[in-house]
Amino acid sequence: MIKFNNVSKTYPNGVQALVDVNLEIEQGEFVAIIGLSGAGKSTLIRTVNKMIDITSGQLVVNDIDVSELEGKKLRKFRRKIGMVFQSFNLVNRTTVIKNVLASRVADMSLFKSILGLYSRQDKIKALEALDKVGILEKAYIRADQLSGGQQQRVALARTLAQDPEIILADEPVASLDPVMAAVVMEDFQRINEEFNITIIINIHHVDLALKYAQRIIGIQAGKIVYDGSVANIDNDTLKKIYGRELSEDELMEKKNVKLD
Ligand SMILES: Nc1ncnc2c1ncn2[C@@H]1O[C@H](COP(=O)(O)OP(=O)(O)O)[C@@H](O)[C@H]1O
Ligand SMILES: [Mg+2]
Repeated sequence: MIKFNNVSKTYPNGVQALVDVNLEIEQGEFVAIIGLSGAGKSTLIRTVNKMIDITSGQLVVNDIDVSELEGKKLRKFRRKIGMVFQSFNLVNRTTVIKNVLASRVADMSLFKSILGLYSRQDKIKALEALDKVGILEKAYIRADQLSGGQQQRVALARTLAQDPEIILADEPVASLDPVMAAVVMEDFQRINEEFNITIIINIHHVDLALKYAQRIIGIQAGKIVYDGSVANIDNDTLKKIYGRELSEDELMEKKNVKLD
């Protein structure tokens, strides 16, 4: 479980990116964080694996107080938390399988990792991860020869190969066309359901959030302004989050996608 108790984050320049955040996220939830650009979405998810330190309050992940983690303990903790970004962060000039194997480096000796001496078990694991996102047949193709959507699936496979309990995804479909965005969202959904991995995804497309997530957290100027099920989202809530009203048609359309 992930627990935020009155968590705040103020950057050194004085920007208050998170203000008294209280949240509980159970293992296996699929949560979408929505909000305008600058609302604090990236800051929020990056506190979970301590890529960003909180300024006050307490953040507990699986009974571990995140603020206290350092060095070896922090590295061990991060291994259970996968991260996916908008820019896929692949090594373009190498093969898909080598990109996925890079996730295994944390468990290898420096000597073996420098020489790229991956065990048979690691290779099987990498291939299994590629299979989970439906691109096993691309294993020996160079990463830069894949489409954006396929590259994001490789990034997701790389994360899966580290056996995460939690996946944090920061705008993972923002640079994909709508068709590929849906495919990648379906991957997240399937992975969440099949492996009970907690997924927290920042997303600015409210329609995708409503279609694929179970729970929506709306954030505005660092404050949680909505936390609840997709079904209970109404126009007033979206107005609070986005500062504008959606037409009744827009709202119906967004909600109906969920019912398909
Ligand atoms: N490293 C930083 N230093 C100073 N201010 C930052 C930093 N990162 C983000 N911010 C500010 O914090 C606020 C929240 O940013 P962010 O979490 O990136 O929002 P979002 O992901 O919703 O766009 C914004 O006002 C942003 O400018
Ligand atoms: Mg962001």
